[in-house]
Order: sequence, then C-alpha cells, then structure tokens
Amino acid sequence: MCGIVGYVGKRECADVLVDGLKRLEYRGYDSSGIAVFQNGKIAVEKSKGKLVDLESKMEKQGKPQGHCGIGHTRWATHGEPSDINSHPHGNKRVTIVHNGIIENYRQIKEFLIGQGYGFESETDTETVAKLLDYFYSGDPIETISKMIDKVNGSYALGILFRDFPDTVFAVRKESPLIIGLGEGENFIASDVTPILKYTKNYYLLEYNEIAVIKEDSVTICTPEGKEIHKEVHTADWDVDAAEKGGYEHFMLKEINEQPVAIKTTIAPRIQEGMPYLEESGLTMEMLKNYRRIFVVACGTAMHAGLVGKYVIEKLARVEVTVDIASEFRYRDPLIEKEDLVILISQSGETADTYAALKMAKERGADTLGIVNVKGSTIARESDIVIYTHAGPEISVASTKAYSVQLSIMYLLAFELAYAKGAISKERCMELTKQLADIPEKLNEVLGIKERCQFIASRLVNAESLLYIGRGLDYALSMEGSLKLKEISYIHSESYAAGELKHGTISLVTEDMPVIAVATQSNLLEKTISNVKEVKARGAKVNVICTEDVEIGKDVANHLIKIPKMEDLLMPLLAAVPMQYIAYYTAVLKGCDVDQPRNLAKSVTVE
Ligand code: F6R
Repeated sequence: MCGIVGYVGKRECADVLVDGLKRLEYRGYDSSGIAVFQNGKIAVEKSKGKLVDLESKMEKQGKPQGHCGIGHTRWATHGEPSDINSHPHGNKRVTIVHNGIIENYRQIKEFLIGQGYGFESETDTETVAKLLDYFYSGDPIETISKMIDKVNGSYALGILFRDFPDTVFAVRKESPLIIGLGEGENFIASDVTPILKYTKNYYLLEYNEIAVIKEDSVTICTPEGKEIHKEVHTADWDVDAAEKGGYEHFMLKEINEQPVAIKTTIAPRIQEGMPYLEESGLTMEMLKNYRRIFVVACGTAMHAGLVGKYVIEKLARVEVTVDIASEFRYRDPLIEKEDLVILISQSGETADTYAALKMAKERGADTLGIVNVKGSTIARESDIVIYTHAGPEISVASTKAYSVQLSIMYLLAFELAYAKGAISKERCMELTKQLADIPEKLNEVLGIKERCQFIASRLVNAESLLYIGRGLDYALSMEGSLKLKEISYIHSESYAAGELKHGTISLVTEDMPVIAVATQSNLLEKTISNVKEVKARGAKVNVICTEDVEIGKDVANHLIKIPKMEDLLMPLLAAVPMQYIAYYTAVLKGCDVDQPRNLAKSVTVE
C-alpha cells in the first residue's frame, strides 16, 4: 500500500527510482510518479496506472535527468486514481511523496485556502506539501518540525526543497520508512527490497525523526534539531529472494519455497527435540501463568490464528479467542493482565493489528508479535517478538507467510501444553519431531500440482464455490476460500460442513462446485456425510483427503490425496493444494496473480 523510494548519488536518479518502485509494486498501487532535481529545478512526472504507463509517458516526453529525487506508487485513499491525484505533490519550492493518512487534512486545507493557497488534487498529501511551503523559512528542519506539530495521522514522507538540490529529507510517524546506506549514494524506501541491489545496510527511521540524506552523508535529528546516532541494521534477505527466479509468478515461487521457509523458521526454535522459544523472551514460567490467549490479526494471518486456536485448546487446554483486528480494536475486549495477546502479521505494519497491539499494551497484557518483516512496527513494539523466516513475500496473496505463521503457532502450542502440564515431555517431543518432518512431506505435496491444475480447469467457469470442512479442516478451508477469491475473483464461501443444512445448502446446485477438506480422521465419517449431501444436490465435489482414505466416485467427483500425518498437523500439508487450486484457477482466467485488483500487500491504513 503506497511505496516510497528516494535516491541521492551518482546514478541516473529516474532509473533508480523506477527500478525501486518496481520492487515495491507488490504492495499494491494504482498510479505512480517521480520528482528529480534537473538543473536545480524539481521536475515531476506522474501517471495513473502501472509503472509501464509512467515509463512510456517518460519515453515520449523525456525522463527527468538528475541524481537526486523521490518516487512513489500510490494506492488511492483520498480521491480516485488519476494523474492529478498521483504523487509527488507540491509546488516549485517543496515537493513530497507520502504514505499514510492525514486525519486533519480538511482543517489544514481550509486554513491554507484562507492564506491564499490553491489545490489541484483531492489528496490529503497535497495539504502537507502546501503546509510545508507555508512554513518554509529557508531551514528545512525547522519547517518539517512545524509541520509535525500541526499534522495528525500517519505519514512517511520523502521531501525535496528546491533550495537543497543535493538532498532528500524524510520523516515518519507510524508508516514505515528506512534509510539505505550505500557507498557514495544513499536511499530512502518503504522497505528493504528496493535497496538490496545496492546495499544491505540501513537505518530504521523512528517516529518524528528527521533524516537529511546526501550522497555522502546521512544525518538524523529530532524535531528540535538534536542529532541522533542510529544503529545500522543489515538486511538478511538477498536480492535473489525478491526476484522471480525462473517462476512465472512470485506466488508460484513462494508456494514452492514453503519447505525451506518452514525449516528456516523452526530449526532454531527446536533444542534437544523440544520447542525452544525462550530466546525470544517467552519463558516456560510465563507460559505456565497465562490465563487466556487472544490471537488478533487480519486476513490470512487471522486464519493462521484460527488453526492455532484449535491446536492450543486441544493440547494445552487454554482458552483462545481469535479476533479480526478491525473488530477487536472496537469491541472493548475483556483483556486482563494475566492474558497473552498474540499479534500475527507478515508485514508487521497492518494498521488494525497495530492498533490492537497498542490497546492490549494499554490494558496491561503481555503482547507477542509473530512477524515476518524485521524491524517493522509490530515487531518493534510487541513485548516479545518471534520472527518467521519466510524471506520476502512479494505476491499479494500470502502463502509461505501463512505456513511459517502456522509453524510458530504449533511450536507455541506444544511448549504451552508442556508448560501447563497438559502433555508429557515424550508427547511434546513426538509432536515436535513430526513438525520438523513437515518440510520433507511438503516437498512430496508440492508434486501434486498437475492434479490441482486439472481441478482448477474444472472451476474456472464457476461463478461461486463452496469450501467445506470440520474442525481444523474448516479453519483451513477459510484460507482456501480467501485465496481463491482474492486472485481469481470467483466468489467463494467457506462453511462448517455440519452447518450447511441450517441454511446454506439451499445454494447448492450443479453450478456450485464444492471443495471439501477431509483430513481429520475423527471427523472423516461426518464430513463424508456432508459431502454426500451436497453431491446429492448436484454439486461437483472435489475432496482433499489423506492417501489412506478410500472415497468412491459416487461420493466425490475428484480426489486430491496428500500424505498422512498427525491430524493436528494436517493443515500445513493441505494448505498446498488449496494454494495451487487458487493459483491455477487465476492463471487460467488470465488474472494478474501477483497483484490482484484493489488489493495491497501491506495495509497501513484502517
Ligand atoms: C491474503 C493476505 C491478507 C493478509 C492481511 C494481513 O492473501 O495476504 O489477507 O494476510 O492483509 O497482512 P499482514 O500479515 O501483513 O498483517
């Protein structure tokens, strides 16, 4: 959701900016633009649409030439996607790119109109640009400080002042921004992916720190102008991790990366055959004392939480409440000091999940972030953080991040169950061993792609689909359904199989294909009964089950068989056919798999 890049150095700035923006494309956007100092003046180019539209515009009109500038991909919030609403915004004296939402922009706009300012766009960003111009005194730091005092909301800003043609200024509150530290060149970016090609070293900009970036120096100061000495971070992702590496889409690459991602995530957290989460600060003593657990997240991450709930409650007998973050933050939840609130987030920047974290902290509960992006806001502000090591997830549709989130939830469930005395050490070790075997089994499951391609070819013309399952299969089917919807644009719903006959079965006809997940041995008979019910109403049924299960043609039209493991761990294996089915259906429909319409990878606004 909105991407920012900035560059100062010897390279052709427009090229660096456009290349950087391409690496941020995955965040989702609908327009883009750059501003570059050209002969001491700020030259701006922007365009609605994809970066190719900006590139072809620049090809026709000539791209701005220079070595210092800022760029932006916009995901519309205030005002439709259009050339005029695209960033950069400002005037000849001050030009900015912005990520975030300015809450009091109407008041600021009215004030500035009163001061004689005119506005071209419908954006909140333009008010900040004009406010900076209004305050401009010749001293950028003083100007930015005054702006900070007046503006409410979230922002990461890249700023150019005409009088400083060799400098990019930056400031942030809530929205993320990093400063890339190169040799004779420096960068700003929304995350590390645009800088990896040039450097792995970066600073994390904290709230209301102001960065002054020149080709051979980076200075960070407080709004009062006091210099701050920052720790240099080093990215552990390499540039290849953010490339397609021969795959047609990032999503397919990321589905195939799951065995390695899980292994990298769990290996350091297993010691002598037992889960070991102490390193992150989560001790056995703490686990023993938690009364209840809340898991708060959005979308796929929330679905990982649902699987976690089943497993924790089953093994540890501790009550777990799973909440959608946007609901949790407004429902005045009954959190107490003895509770643990777990926030799951790939990006670590999701606005609602972050708001839930703040609320949980205010109420005195311990907070645990399960986060993929190092140094992200949720990671930094949680009391305890467990990083998932999925590497960069570029495709908007989450796949490998889901698997690693599940893996951590499993380790946590095993350790908690052991800490609470609900399972023996032997059982804990046995479960941990099975989890450690998952990557190998997953390699086997990844081999069923042709079967999933075939199923996808049967779904491609459907208008609506039903996913059904019971227990953990139901939790997983929610994720399968979301995956299909978001990338193939086919409507689908997931339903607890036993609940169908209380209403939803009336929708079932021969035009409504059904995907049933039946991996839980204790619920198999029950799920098969539900499969028979929908088949009897004409539905074409595809069943995902374990290899030992026999289901006749009269019961299901097509089967997808996967290796059998401990029931509790089956979601990790069954996720793959779900992901493949969504992927191949979207490919067959000719959809933009990695960047589905209207979606952003990192949802930094409410
Ligand atoms: C779906 C998807 C989203 C995210 C959700 C939370 O494929 O990716 O549903 O899971 O937006 O994002 P994070 O995990 O970054 O908080």
